Amino acid sequence: MTDLQQTPSARQDAGRSVPWWSDAVIYQIYPRSFADADDDGMGDLAGVTGRLPYLAQLGVDAIWLSPFYVSPQADAGYDVADYRDVDPLFGSLQDFDTMLAAAHERGIRVIVDLVPNHTSDEHVWFKEALNSKRGSRARDRYIFRDGKGGHGELPPNNWQSVFGGPAWSRLMEVDDGSALGPQWYLHLFDSKQPDLNWENPEVQEEMISVLRFWLDRGADGFRIDVAHGLIKEEGLPDWSGQAGMVEGESPTVEATNIEDEEQARMGGPEESDAGRSPMFDQDGVHDIYRRWNEVLAEYPGNRMLVAEAWVEPAERLARYIRQDEMQQAFNFDFLLAGWDARRMAKSIEESLNAASSVGSPSTWVLSNHDTIRHTTRFGLQDPTNFPKGVGSDDEQPDEALGLARARAATLLMLALPGSAYIYQGEELGLPEHTALDSDVRQDPSFFRTQGAEKGRDGCRVPLPWHSDAPGYGFGDYAASDAGPWLPQPASFKRYAVDRQDGIAGSTLEFYRSALAFRAEYRLGAGILEWSPLNKPGDGVLSFNNGSVLVFANLGTGPVDLPGDHSVALSSSPDAVDDTRLAPNATVWMLPEK
Ligand code: NOJ
Repeated sequence: MTDLQQTPSARQDAGRSVPWWSDAVIYQIYPRSFADADDDGMGDLAGVTGRLPYLAQLGVDAIWLSPFYVSPQADAGYDVADYRDVDPLFGSLQDFDTMLAAAHERGIRVIVDLVPNHTSDEHVWFKEALNSKRGSRARDRYIFRDGKGGHGELPPNNWQSVFGGPAWSRLMEVDDGSALGPQWYLHLFDSKQPDLNWENPEVQEEMISVLRFWLDRGADGFRIDVAHGLIKEEGLPDWSGQAGMVEGESPTVEATNIEDEEQARMGGPEESDAGRSPMFDQDGVHDIYRRWNEVLAEYPGNRMLVAEAWVEPAERLARYIRQDEMQQAFNFDFLLAGWDARRMAKSIEESLNAASSVGSPSTWVLSNHDTIRHTTRFGLQDPTNFPKGVGSDDEQPDEALGLARARAATLLMLALPGSAYIYQGEELGLPEHTALDSDVRQDPSFFRTQGAEKGRDGCRVPLPWHSDAPGYGFGDYAASDAGPWLPQPASFKRYAVDRQDGIAGSTLEFYRSALAFRAEYRLGAGILEWSPLNKPGDGVLSFNNGSVLVFANLGTGPVDLPGDHSVALSSSPDAVDDTRLAPNATVWMLPEK
């Protein structure tokens, strides 16, 4: 084994009964926006390396990096033109190796993003397909079809792109000599992201080779983009539903109570016509992950796969984490539960049950680069609302209330057994940028919906490291005209790392304490038992995990805390008044000695 293949010190795993990922705290790095080492306004891999001490001090077990591969950046790197190289925007392969070695040196694992559902239209395969005839081997790597209508002028079916507009584009400029005219190609996302044909063995082998490329370099795992989308229903039948990243979003959001939600998920009136979508969660995807599981097993160090699969219900999602498939799947049901005790309790219960039914641990997540930051969502009038972006004309959140609730939700999440994902900046309490100008927005969903969806740029704004530096120290812009690729709101000054580091009660110190406590009490490897004090109907969530009693108040008034326990950690400094817990707060308690 080369040095690069070494996983973090064997010392770390000594005495552990579970693989590292099963209770890991994994920190998501969005490379464009984490730290800019070459001061060009765009974050990079050297920036990650430079901030590893910060991440080690925070106490995370692993980092997951969103794509940094060669890409025209039509979807911020989720449009990959070369899976085996780093885009010069982010550095070089050498920078990756340096970053990975430095992370391992500190005992931090590294998960990279794999985007297997689609390539960029600038990938060599797609360029070849454009220059090849219908029916050719090159076209068969993608999903090309003749159009409907007398001259093939209509798309092959009625599917809509997740980002808005039709999911098909026609090769107008390429006429391959058929009476039917140029073909159409499928893109579930942007037209610059053509879907691969996963029925094609060449595609399957190529992606395994890409897996090996990064495994050989020492990657500890992969986050699998659109893991539920690779196989499409045979015949590509029409479907009247709207494909969304947040599958099942409407029922979850529109439901006014758990019973309504249940009905909607079971296929309530709005959904029954649409049925299960033919583009997602087809049974055939599981064969792919069984093979990948075997590939990973050839490597030492418990390498892992985590599915980005917006799949409901929990039992369907659990199929992705059967013992011979992936190790984890993001728990978007928990993320979608919003600030609502009953939904959260239900999600926790169902997630744990479904995961354990296949012998796997669950995961937990509240924010990522595709969703409104939870600090901001929880400050909206309806804290279960899930807008697709926020602009200055939209309702603006109550920032202080949102932050209090976000910290409370985080403390609740970090006490749950399983693995927890943290999105960069949430440890600072960063809010969404809710007033970005249209002319700086970059998310393709903003353009493909003609601005009806504001999109995801607001959660992707570069991090503030120094309150008094230009660009809040994201890079060093003192002597240049450059600045962060997206403008930061003025409020980021208050949230900058230097304003919080070492300050008792700051969100950063709160996260550091919570992660240290979680590790010390092995909460991620524990077992949840609902406490008799658990009353979701009254806004109170309470459970035991080992000796730790967790108490969260999602209601509107203070609630009594048990007298035989004392508070070990609380989500805000003024959360506890004598023996009562204020609303919008969570505490971890230990039995009185
Ligand atoms: C999910 C990713 O998280 C998102 O950012 C991306 O736009 C889509 N997949 C398409 O790759």
